[in-house]
Amino acid sequence: MKLQIIAAAVAIGVALNAAGETPVYLDTTKPLEERVNDALGRMTTEEKVAIIHAQSKFSSAGVPRLGIPELWCTDGPHGIRPEVFWDEWDQAGWTNDSCTAFPALTCLAATWNTEMAQLYGKSIGEEARYREKDVLLGPGVNIYRTPLNGRNFEYMGEDPYLASAMVVPYIKGVQANGVATCVKHYALNNQEQRRHTTDVDLSDRALYEIYLPAFKAAVMDGGTWSIMSSYNLYKGRHVCQNQRLLKEILRDEWGFDGVVISDWGGVHNTEQVIDGGLDLEFGSWTNGLSEGMKNAYDSYYMAYPYLKLISEGKVDTKELDKKAANVLRLIFRTAMNPEKPFGSLNSPEHLAAARQIAGEGIVLLKNEGNLLPLKLDGKKKIAVVGENAIKMMTVGGGSSSLKARREVSPLEGLKHRAGDGVEIVYARGYVGDPVAQQDGMKVQDISDNRSAEEMLAEAVAAAKDADYVVFVGGLNKAPHQDCEDADREGLGLPYGQDRLIEELAKVNKNLVVVNISGNAVAMPWIKSVPAVVQGWFIGSEAGNAIADVLAGDVNPSGKLPFTFPVKLEDVGAHARGEYPGNKDALAASKEWGDTIPEYYNEDIFVGYRWADKEKTTPLFPFGHGLSYTSFEYGKPSADKKSLTADDTITFTVNVRNTGDREGQEIVQLYVTDKKSSLPRPVKELKGFKKVKLAPGEEKQVSITIGRDALSYFDDNKHEWIAEPGKFEAIIGASSRDIKGIVPFELK
Ligand code: GLC
Repeated sequence: MKLQIIAAAVAIGVALNAAGETPVYLDTTKPLEERVNDALGRMTTEEKVAIIHAQSKFSSAGVPRLGIPELWCTDGPHGIRPEVFWDEWDQAGWTNDSCTAFPALTCLAATWNTEMAQLYGKSIGEEARYREKDVLLGPGVNIYRTPLNGRNFEYMGEDPYLASAMVVPYIKGVQANGVATCVKHYALNNQEQRRHTTDVDLSDRALYEIYLPAFKAAVMDGGTWSIMSSYNLYKGRHVCQNQRLLKEILRDEWGFDGVVISDWGGVHNTEQVIDGGLDLEFGSWTNGLSEGMKNAYDSYYMAYPYLKLISEGKVDTKELDKKAANVLRLIFRTAMNPEKPFGSLNSPEHLAAARQIAGEGIVLLKNEGNLLPLKLDGKKKIAVVGENAIKMMTVGGGSSSLKARREVSPLEGLKHRAGDGVEIVYARGYVGDPVAQQDGMKVQDISDNRSAEEMLAEAVAAAKDADYVVFVGGLNKAPHQDCEDADREGLGLPYGQDRLIEELAKVNKNLVVVNISGNAVAMPWIKSVPAVVQGWFIGSEAGNAIADVLAGDVNPSGKLPFTFPVKLEDVGAHARGEYPGNKDALAASKEWGDTIPEYYNEDIFVGYRWADKEKTTPLFPFGHGLSYTSFEYGKPSADKKSLTADDTITFTVNVRNTGDREGQEIVQLYVTDKKSSLPRPVKELKGFKKVKLAPGEEKQVSITIGRDALSYFDDNKHEWIAEPGKFEAIIGASSRDIKGIVPFELK
């Protein structure tokens, strides 16, 4: 009976069309919801089921009969992934799909500059649009809970306020191109080890105060059109089928009207996924058909098995209509968006954006005796040492891997920048990961069969009589480094780099270490090295951006978006938090597929919140970053001594550039709740401003906060509470470099 009615409705729809009227769903002057409902009303059940799961590795079906196009997704957060075969991860070998590789998102976060986030989103959105992609599978905003997480380089650090502030402009920049962001991986995917089977549990305080805010900002302030549900479990249920996260919080509390897209292979059960809140299923290793059967799209959990339950009358189509409506809305916002621009690819503007963002994100960690910037005038010899001076970093690391149109290496960048009188010699120093490859494509082979001793000796010899030694090392994109699907096995640098750095320091005091990584690393040699730069993974313009900073053409202004601990025991997840999972369960585990519970016992005390609580001294604190100039802060003040919960309060501080060159300073505002009913961190970041100052220039910096900045989440009452009492505003150049404290009271 129902099918006849639907068939009749379809016939009428076609008839109207024949009469020359534009059907509502195609009429862009009509409100979006009217168009969605009109399209839904014209679709058969089969057509609705067809659009809620993948039809290929990165696409889902449209409705050909109605002229509704299919949806094309693409990785990743740092650039547009090369085309792969229809049903494979391997690259298809196209010749028109190279891209601009933008800096990794830890570098973007390190700029603390929301204008850079907007520029980033606009630029990468233009590349996605030009490549006819509808959904960009990024950005990632999972909180940096442990420095061992293989994918931290794709995320925005340890602080929910900073990640929230930086993700919103990125989303708006991308979506202005008619391309959806797909903010990931929602939620609690804070490690790569056993990422499909780790069952995370934690207090609602930690969930709401630390792990959800960046996703909430992405939905409520950024207006992201889609969100990716993560692989892990939460309280015993896979997130891709988890009503609490995907319905109660995402839809009911935040009013999300976009599409929840599963991570690739994150769905495990038809019954659970129907009511679980997922809208679009990708990458499933289909059940009952042996893992990963080719072209098994009709067997996806939300494909034939779902249709079968409907036709047997076991489930109704209420949930199906919701899912299909959400997907239609996404298609109308992207593939069928008549206003979207045409984008651009590999443009000079995009390379310039990549270089500018990198230049603003590189962090000068140490600069004893102002060794930097390098004096490149006159006759000089620079010894460049380290594999990362020549190694491609845009390849590998998992799904964020790219086919960059170009990637300037640090060695190339330094050679290009150095003046005629400067001799640059290179010594590899060690062999780490000699082959850069991904998805079936080997793109760089820098194999070197010499012994470690021989390579160390060569590097030390090169360093002996050089004016400067620039060591470019750190991590890379190989498994168990900064890479998806595996975590690092320790905080230390791999491949014997520590010993090499010590040996270099013995023969030349003018040693600069450039650490290329997306994670904190231990630096046992820190006292022997006068200058250290955090270089991040910074994409196509890496070498130029690093040379810009080392040569002083760019005055570094980045600050750390996460803590560099001295040792792992100084990190909450390791000291208290059960990482990488419950010890007994791990010991008892026989199969890689066993579910491993992990309770986040460190709770809200993540990153500097833990360091403050434990009173440990980090190697480099959250928010730390130096400049080639110096800044002086005046005494901070407030525009009022007390406020009510509906008020705001503004803190002002004068900052002066006391050096001889232009620079940018990031003024940070932390809030301390002097007395609270529930335990709170010593202080929490609640505001920041990046200001550019000419030599001698002074500017007044003001930061305004309201009740949100004073509230904590009471997980007994399930609400945010701004508790009257005494507070302090702490103005800092980092979380530990405090410039002034302003007491105030909440009435
Ligand atoms: C991967 C990643 C996800 C990526 C997706 C498609 O497993 O977890 O970030 O977007 O699959 O490649």
